[in-house]
Amino acid sequence: EKGGYEHFMLKEIFEQPKSILDTMRGRLLVEEGIIKMAGIWDHQERLTNASRIIIIACGTSWHAGLIGEYLIEEFARIPVEVEYASEFRYRNPILSEKDVVIAISQSGETADTMAALKLAKERGAFIYGICNVVDSSIARITDAGSYTHAGPEIGVASTKAFTAQLTILSLIALKLGKHNGHLSNQEFMKLITELDQLPNKVQEVLDSTNEHVKEIAKNYIDATNFLYLGRGYNYPSALEGALKLKEISYIHAEGYPAAEMKHGPIALIDENMPIVIIAPKRGHYDKIVSNVQEIKARKGQVIAVVNDGDEQVASMADHVIEIPDTSECFSPIIAAVPLQLLSYYIAVYRGANVDQPRNLAKSVTVE
Ligand code: F6R
Repeated sequence: EKGGYEHFMLKEIFEQPKSILDTMRGRLLVEEGIIKMAGIWDHQERLTNASRIIIIACGTSWHAGLIGEYLIEEFARIPVEVEYASEFRYRNPILSEKDVVIAISQSGETADTMAALKLAKERGAFIYGICNVVDSSIARITDAGSYTHAGPEIGVASTKAFTAQLTILSLIALKLGKHNGHLSNQEFMKLITELDQLPNKVQEVLDSTNEHVKEIAKNYIDATNFLYLGRGYNYPSALEGALKLKEISYIHAEGYPAAEMKHGPIALIDENMPIVIIAPKRGHYDKIVSNVQEIKARKGQVIAVVNDGDEQVASMADHVIEIPDTSECFSPIIAAVPLQLLSYYIAVYRGANVDQPRNLAKSVTVE
C-alpha cells in the first residue's frame, strides 16, 4: 500500500504531480481560457462582492491560507485576513453579511476550524470550505466549497494536501480576479498557462532534487536548531518548511520573513546554525542576496533553494538546491517539494517515525 516507498510521507511527496493535476482536472481549461469551479460559479456575486475574505485554518492549512492571502489580494484585490481558527473563535470577531469566510482543512474535521465556521455562520458570513476529505464535517456545514482532490493523505505530516490547497487557492484567486476585472485577459491567460505546467515542474523538481537533498540531509542530522527564511509568497513557505522539520525530526526550527531576521533572530546565527533560504529569482531576489551576505558574515550555514542556473546566492551558499522557474505566485508549490524532502530525510536518518510522529494525530478533533 506504500507503493514501494519506505513511508507514506515519501509516497505522498512523490504523488504531488498527480495530486496537483487531479485538483486542476476539469477546472483549469487552458484552451478555452477558463477556470470552471461550481462552488465559485454558483455564488460568484457573493464572492466577488465580498467586503473582505477571512481565511481560517490550523497548522499547515493555515500556511496555505497565508499564501492564499497573497494570491487573492494580488489578483482579485479583495482584502484578506488569515486567522488561526482557535484565535478567531475565542475573540468575539467582527463579522458581517458582506464577509466571506474560507476554511481550509485537509481532514475537514479539525475541531477549532469547525467551531470557528459555526460562529461565522451564526453571524451571517458566507462560509466556503476547502477540504480534502469528501463529506467531512466542514464540507457539510459550509455554504459552498471546492474539494482538493489530493487523495487520502496517510502520513501525519501534510504534504500533498498542502500543494493541493495552494492549487485551489490559485484557481480561486485567478477566477475571482478575472470575474471582477482586476486581471486582464492577457495576464489571466499567461497565469493559467503557467499553472497548467506545474504538475510537470513538480515532477521535474522531484527527479532533480531527491537524491541531492538526501545527501544534503546527512550534514544536518545532529543540528539542534534551524531557521527558514523567505520573502513575499515564500515567507509562508519558510513557515511551512520549519513546521515540517519540527514535526517529524523533532529539531527545533523557526520560519521567518527574511527581513525580520535583523529584528531578533540574527542574534542566533553562528557556525552551528543552519539556515534554509528560499530565494527564487522572481520575488525580492536582491533583498535576499543581502540577507545571505549578512548570514555568511556571521558564519551561518546556508542551504539555498534557488532557480536553475542561479549564481549569486548559490555562490555564497553551503548547499544549493535548484528548482525550476515559475511565476512568483506559484513558486511556493515548487519550493515546498525540496523542503518536504529535506525534513523527511533528516527525520529518517535520525530514526524517527516519520509517518506517525510522537504526540501528533492526523485529525485534531479535540480543542
Ligand atoms: C502539519 C499538519 C497539521 C495540520 C493541522 C490542520 O503537517 O498536518 O498542522 O495541517 O492539524 O489539519 P486540517 O488541515 O486537517 O484541518
